[in-house]
Amino acid sequence: MTITMKKLIAGNWKMNGSLAANEALLKGLATGMPAPPRCAVAVCVPAPYLGQFRALANALPGLSAVDLGAQDVSSQVAGAFTGEVSASMLKDFGCRYVIVGHSERRQYHAETDAVVAQKAQQALAAGITPIVCVGETLAQREAGQTQAVVKRQLAAVIHANGHCISEIVVAYEPVWAIGTGKTATPDEAQAVHAVLRAQLKAATDQAARVKILYGGSMNAANAAWLLGQPDIDGGLIGGASLKAQDFLTIIAAAFA
Ligand code: PGA
Repeated sequence: MTITMKKLIAGNWKMNGSLAANEALLKGLATGMPAPPRCAVAVCVPAPYLGQFRALANALPGLSAVDLGAQDVSSQVAGAFTGEVSASMLKDFGCRYVIVGHSERRQYHAETDAVVAQKAQQALAAGITPIVCVGETLAQREAGQTQAVVKRQLAAVIHANGHCISEIVVAYEPVWAIGTGKTATPDEAQAVHAVLRAQLKAATDQAARVKILYGGSMNAANAAWLLGQPDIDGGLIGGASLKAQDFLTIIAAAFA
């Protein structure tokens, strides 16, 4: 049986924004958002702006179809972890999603596969969907290690969260494509997505429900092409999610 699943377009604002810029961006999204959009939509905002999103979402009906996400979560429940933000805090602000294991966190904050798996576990325990990022560097791709790397990264999360693995979202983000203007070709991306889908199938009979997003320089011009692949269930969008019109164009390109 083929399950028709709505695609998910999630914006990753990274460390960008200000109260004024966010308000302008969210007002632009609210004004242009189709009602209802044909895909699920989320924005993953910097933690200090979670409350601002909530306040604007209450005031702007056009944001009712946009879910809130965060960009990271602590691997710990609570306590003496200065600077960290827990899953229950994200839940308090109505987060539906949290990105875990983004390559920028793996690279600049030395997050290991085990830490990423714990973060996914904390999110799931709080009822938040982790968007688990996996992806190879350019050197790993050139060494023919792409499949081994993404499988190892996903295996850690499956191992720690086997019983509820169908509740996660996976994002394949080749590191060499992030913020560089280079994307995987649809065939390259689809090949990796199919590998990830097979790995999920071995772990759960619900694998067809797990959304596997592509991320890495997806933009208004190439989104339809990438989103047309059978195992690409949406996008995790960095730079292009900061411009309302570009993000809306990607949303319009995402239908089942
Ligand atoms: P990009 O970022 O769209 O700017 O390449 C994607 C991401 O890092 O999530």
